[in-house]
Amino acid sequence: MKRVAIVTGASSGVGKEFVRQFDHGKGGPLDEIWIVARSEQRLNEVASSCTKVQVRTFACDLTQAESFSGISQALEEENAEIEWLINSAGFGKFGDYRSVGPEQNANMVRLNCLAVVQAISMALPHMVAGSRIINLSSIAGAIPQVMLATYSATKAFVLELSRMLDHELKPCGIRVLAVCPKFMKTGFLDNPGDQEAAEGMCRIGYERVERVVSVALRRAILGKDLCIPSFEMRLAYLASRLMPRSALFALEDALFR
Ligand SMILES: NC(=O)c1ccc[n+]([C@@H]2O[C@H](COP(=O)([O-])OP(=O)(O)OC[C@H]3O[C@@H](n4cnc5c(N)ncnc54)[C@H](OP(=O)(O)O)[C@@H]3O)[C@@H](O)[C@H]2O)c1
Repeated sequence: MKRVAIVTGASSGVGKEFVRQFDHGKGGPLDEIWIVARSEQRLNEVASSCTKVQVRTFACDLTQAESFSGISQALEEENAEIEWLINSAGFGKFGDYRSVGPEQNANMVRLNCLAVVQAISMALPHMVAGSRIINLSSIAGAIPQVMLATYSATKAFVLELSRMLDHELKPCGIRVLAVCPKFMKTGFLDNPGDQEAAEGMCRIGYERVERVVSVALRRAILGKDLCIPSFEMRLAYLASRLMPRSALFALEDALFR
């Protein structure tokens, strides 16, 4: 039985950092790390940067349902046991709903929600007690953000799905963690849509990818279902839950627009 970690969005940013930390043994003993993203070249670069654990690449577009068949087939052929599933592939476009446009709004739902559901469905039959799923939500999933309507809604979906699944799967020893970071300097911000809206929102500041990933791994190993790595975002999350939505959105308009 091969012990495998699967990381989506592994060619860049958070996913790439998960691969690095797995290669350094932060996720316990692994035989292979399977990495998924569209860019074959960048996946190969990530694979060759790993020195301790063997890496297998799957270059595919996760907005296409058939993309999962290659990974599913490999799971069957290898009789693999999935120790970790990291759903990090995702993107967000800033701006009002109409300016983001129908294609990008739909693609955010396909990648940030549908692909996560499909990856979990694919992985669960290969998971055992002790297996862990980490889903990248966002602070925008915990506190809905103006000028990020679809993205916030997709990440709220990921947050709720993760916590419900954690509750459901806990009796069989499989735990699910949602991670809600604030901004990080990754490819996520390279092409954000409405640049002015993105700059306004980024006033909340950035956190370091390395720390987000190490805190997430620690929380997952402890069997927690939620990780908001930034202390001030944990406070903001609690405060936002006490506010009516209209007041929250008015405050965000005043702060970020
Ligand atoms: N960075 C932030 O400020 C921030 C904050 C909160 C939450 N997040 C969340 O964290 C996660 C990771 O984002 P990141 O910061 O690491 O951004 P990133 O550097 O842009 O990485 C995104 C990853 O997703 C892959 N990807 C994009 N579209 C794909 C598709 N259709 N099929 C397969 N793979 C695809 C990209 O690779 P290819 O282009 O090669 O496909 C890349 O590996 C996302 O879910 C994001 O929403 C990010």
